[in-house]
Amino acid sequence: MLESIDIHCHIMPGVDDGSPDTDTSLKMLKIAVESGVRNIILTPHHKPMHHNVSPKHNAAYRQKLQEVAWDNGINVNLYSGNEMYFSDDTMADLECGNICTLAGSDYVLVEFHPTNPYKAIHNALYQVQGAGFTPVLAHVERYSDVVSHPAYVRDLVDMGCYIQVNANSIMGKYGFGTAHFTKKLIKEDLVHFVATDAHDTVRRAPHLAECRKYVERKYGLDTADRLFYDNPLSVIHNEII
Ligand SMILES: [Fe+2]
Repeated sequence: MLESIDIHCHIMPGVDDGSPDTDTSLKMLKIAVESGVRNIILTPHHKPMHHNVSPKHNAAYRQKLQEVAWDNGINVNLYSGNEMYFSDDTMADLECGNICTLAGSDYVLVEFHPTNPYKAIHNALYQVQGAGFTPVLAHVERYSDVVSHPAYVRDLVDMGCYIQVNANSIMGKYGFGTAHFTKKLIKEDLVHFVATDAHDTVRRAPHLAECRKYVERKYGLDTADRLFYDNPLSVIHNEII
């Protein structure tokens, strides 16, 4: 099985609406490894007005989970990250170093409310860039204004943003319209990462293999390699994609 790297998941236990405990995290890691994933960036939510995990605790919890995983024979490497819900408050947190970038790189995973207008998303990502970071827009298929105007995605890519879609969206778990939109973007070379956004072991489990096979069959081996392995590896190495 070809190796993949997951840059967006909620496997860190007890810190957000993802895995509630270490047992569940271990089950999720097993599913990921069975799906060909050997490197995972843990991205707990960082939201305004929430009790967010600090970078110091993020590193400690990641290290603890890493040790338990290895003790249980799960061959996986874990990295720290966050999924930053954009607001003025979280932007200030990012600038003060209170948010983990992806694996310590310049890349930051950023999400918005699904009904945010494109203009707000664009301006926010511009601010993230202005602060010296490289934004990765989490699950682009979730923002209704962007879905209605796919050309906006090219604008974002042209301004230097990177685009992530969820594997489940490509595989049709959120309906035909969402699947169609994500595939149109892949076809137009406007997607940089496919990730799981896993929250549990069932409905939102960390499966990537099936989606990778599908993307390879439909768009070719090079595209699949890029979206599931090469681009994520560039993030881990903090290289420009
Ligand atoms: Fe997420």
